[in-house]
Amino acid sequence: MEALLGKARNMCPYLHKTSPATLRSLSTSTSMQQSVSAGGSAMSNLQITARRCPVMGKALSVQGARSGNAALNGVFGGTRGYHAKVPRANLHTSSSKEAQAVERPAERRQQPAPYSRPAGNAATASAATGHALTGAPPPPNAARFDYEGFYGNELDKKHKDKSYRYFNNINRLAQEFPRAHMSGRDEKVDVWCSNDYLGMGRNPQVLKKMHETLDLYGSGAGGTRNISGHNQHAVGLENACAKLHAKEAALVFSSCYVANDATLATLGSKLPNCVILSDSMNHASMIQGIRHSGAKKVVFKHNDVVDLEDKLAALPSDVPKIIAFESVYSMCGSIGPIEEICDLAEKYGAITFLDEVHAVGMYGPNGAGVAEHLDYDVYANGGNTRGTVQDRIDIITGTLGKAYGCVGGYIAGSSKLVDTIRSLAPGFIFTTSLPPATMAGAQTAIEYQMAYQGDRRLQQLHTRAVKASLEERDIPVMPNPSHIIPVLVGNAEVAKKASDLLLEKHQIYVQAINYPTVPVGQERLRITPTPGHVKEFRAHLVQALDSVWNELGIKRTSDWAKEGGFIGVGEQNPTAVQPLWTDSQLGLDDVARELSSGDGAHGVLERVLDNEVRQTRQAVAAAA
Ligand SMILES: Cc1ncc(COP(=O)(O)O)c(C=O)c1O
Repeated sequence: MEALLGKARNMCPYLHKTSPATLRSLSTSTSMQQSVSAGGSAMSNLQITARRCPVMGKALSVQGARSGNAALNGVFGGTRGYHAKVPRANLHTSSSKEAQAVERPAERRQQPAPYSRPAGNAATASAATGHALTGAPPPPNAARFDYEGFYGNELDKKHKDKSYRYFNNINRLAQEFPRAHMSGRDEKVDVWCSNDYLGMGRNPQVLKKMHETLDLYGSGAGGTRNISGHNQHAVGLENACAKLHAKEAALVFSSCYVANDATLATLGSKLPNCVILSDSMNHASMIQGIRHSGAKKVVFKHNDVVDLEDKLAALPSDVPKIIAFESVYSMCGSIGPIEEICDLAEKYGAITFLDEVHAVGMYGPNGAGVAEHLDYDVYANGGNTRGTVQDRIDIITGTLGKAYGCVGGYIAGSSKLVDTIRSLAPGFIFTTSLPPATMAGAQTAIEYQMAYQGDRRLQQLHTRAVKASLEERDIPVMPNPSHIIPVLVGNAEVAKKASDLLLEKHQIYVQAINYPTVPVGQERLRITPTPGHVKEFRAHLVQALDSVWNELGIKRTSDWAKEGGFIGVGEQNPTAVQPLWTDSQLGLDDVARELSSGDGAHGVLERVLDNEVRQTRQAVAAAA
């Protein structure tokens, strides 16, 4: 650099008058306003000054065009800008791409305006465009983009397609679970759609731990994990998550949405030429993660291992592949074919990414989820877990916000995988840690559920009881082997009306599930029983649904059957759906025997339920 500057000084009258120190400083500094070229490359102040020189400016332009350096090319470079690799991008998770030329005017032409510009004369419009390009402030009174109009237009679209979301003011009462009050303290309702599936949000042991931690350590973590937010609660919680899934390590995020997004985005962008195979019903968090990774995405049909294999077989064997899927699909209650997907992953050299968000706490003898549940006896009896389905999964993600009743998410896997995500994922690195009390409460909830199966068994029994009662009333439940009860409505407006009517007339809160969460025409009410939904609650729900179905004339199972059936409801010769929790795992062998003998089965089930309810109450009281 010194030699180059020396030579230039001898040739150029401007440089000749300038001291070497000033030149050095100009060559290493950038001006805030002008330092980034059209292509995004940084320009030094020396380059900016040189561009104004009648001799150097042209030379730099020619040099820039030859070398593809947008910083040299600058305003002299004509129509081409370049996407150069900017070092900062490495911090984020965009996939590393070679610099490529973009015809800028053509690019502008192809981009549709997100919202039509307010009317104005052509001269004003072109003036505005010109200013946008040069970065100069628009003159006063120039036509401006109508931001409020844009928002209004977007909202109108949501209202028109009936996907606009209305929130109900529901305040769940810890002491009256599963009751809540609405805006007025006296307006009490039964909550039937919470994902606090086990009522852990009011578990006495969890609350005690949270109170103690709050008093000792205060409300917030005080920083990111890197800066003052790493503490014993994070370490303890991550150890508990790793132990739960019998993995080497775990990493906690602010939510599982963030965990899924950050992990897939990081892996997909860092693994060279990575391809991510994604189940068509995957949650938005995974879809976003894949999008953010910039990796190639291949969608396979929901739970269809034949389609997945076709897609795997079509990919080169040596490229890294991630199969991303869920264990319990929360809107329909279907269960992923985990074991078959592990087989395919092994056969085609892929790794597996399993979202157990709706299954942790709910399945398996430790509450680790469906993967654990598939080897129930091995885990229940402390056997060798090598080669079990859970062991074969590379990355498990879970939430602390549903069955564990708190908030947060995590990934569990090998130490190296976890350390890689810890070291590279912006969604982990650049955000404040969860509060100590939340982490301590979540750890207590995990450990409580590892030691006690009563809540999830009772939840399953209540689920079976509600499904059986709705079936008796011809109310269309979409069949599935899990704890979710999706009741088919099939129309967005009617689903919302049914939800409103349940709330206003029957004091029952069940949110309607509409597009885009489910496809248009498959709108439903999604019911989630908990251990607290004892007989009176269940009877009230079934009677209320029956009344709403009558009042709104919603199709029953037999109506769907007349039309040949729809998404499992009213279908001819349906394949029997076996619940994931078997009769013997629930201690229902006696009930099953009574059922097959044909009489009194409902009474026996209710007796089992009464007994479970009593035991659960005792366990909760003992925990207090
Ligand atoms: C399948 C699935 N994955 C991930 C998430 C995100 O979890 P969290 O609520 O912890 O952000 C959800 C949330 O509903 C989900 O349904």
